[in-house]
Amino acid sequence: MIRRHLPFTQSVISALFLLTATAGLAADRVKSVPEQTVDTLEKLSGGPHAGFRANHAKGIVVTGSFTADAAAKTLTKAEHLQGAKVPVTVRFSNATGVPTLPDADPNASPHGIAIRFTAPSGQATDIVSISYDGFPVSTPDDFLALLNAVAASGPDVPSPKPIETFLGSHPAAKAFVTAPKPAPVSYATLPFYGVNAFNFTNAAGKSQYARYRIIPVAGDKRLTDDEAKKAAPDYLIDELKARLAKAPVKFKLIAQLAKDGDAVNDGSIAWGKDHKEVLLGTLTLDTALADSAAVEKKLAFSPLHLVDGIAPSADPVLLARPAAYAFSVGRRAGK
Ligand code: HEM
Repeated sequence: MIRRHLPFTQSVISALFLLTATAGLAADRVKSVPEQTVDTLEKLSGGPHAGFRANHAKGIVVTGSFTADAAAKTLTKAEHLQGAKVPVTVRFSNATGVPTLPDADPNASPHGIAIRFTAPSGQATDIVSISYDGFPVSTPDDFLALLNAVAASGPDVPSPKPIETFLGSHPAAKAFVTAPKPAPVSYATLPFYGVNAFNFTNAAGKSQYARYRIIPVAGDKRLTDDEAKKAAPDYLIDELKARLAKAPVKFKLIAQLAKDGDAVNDGSIAWGKDHKEVLLGTLTLDTALADSAAVEKKLAFSPLHLVDGIAPSADPVLLARPAAYAFSVGRRAGK
């Protein structure tokens, strides 16, 4: 009996094994590009690092207010841009998923700013921007390919390494990687750029595309290479706390208007300086949160957390971001 049943039992086990293995493979195959991107970001940072963001892991949360300029109404009917002073929560960050990355490390750039405005009705909306005017690639697939190329280009890999091949065929990525990005004196002396365009609609129903620019009132100030080498690992966080203890930090929020023929769906192409700009208002930051580390774990910003009067462009990178952020948020919350 036993002998007769053995092959049957074995084939059931084999079938189960095959099923499990195939299910595993199928699960790998159906992972979306945003999920694979989060996997690769975690891998590149030596993570996953429990409780931290898969990208822009190190940061500081501060609060303050935003007051819209009268010109903002000409562009959009968005509630937080109609003139009333509204509270903001802002997170400054370093690039990469490494929570302990020294602030002056070249990989910490582009730095990030994430701003949450809460309008009088209680409606909130976010802006999530970086300190470089452009993205390395035009599509989420190419972003994943870029990160995978970096991951496959260790010191022992012979030339041409995958990253060299990728940069050779993607000029915007090469420009992004090779552009000098000197470490800032302060988060308060760094300009930030929205990169992805949005479609703004005013009360009269007029719509136009624009990109955000967030310009420090204190000016764009950078460390020299020598200063950067000597900078303390957390100098940006410590400097911002000390600065805010003395005086508020201000940024001008500006909309850079698209001209006819501008690439509104491709963040890898900067629009240049000869564009009309509309001053949307002034960001005044006054408080570094003592419980920043706890607050940032609960905060989840999204570039598509929008309100009536501001709509997304069809930029595929912009449209893919919320899904990637959601995977990261879920994982850092332990889901
Ligand atoms: C396909 C393209 C992109 C992917 C896959 C991606 C992925 C991510 C992920 C996974 C996070 C962590 C989210 C969290 O845990 O809350 C993140 C954060 C962030 N990303 Fe992106 N990102 C992309 C494009 C961009 C672009 C175009 C910008 C700016 C223009 C940007 C700026 C930021 C900033 C500033 C943060 C930190 C937000 C915070 O402080 O909570 N990202 N990104």
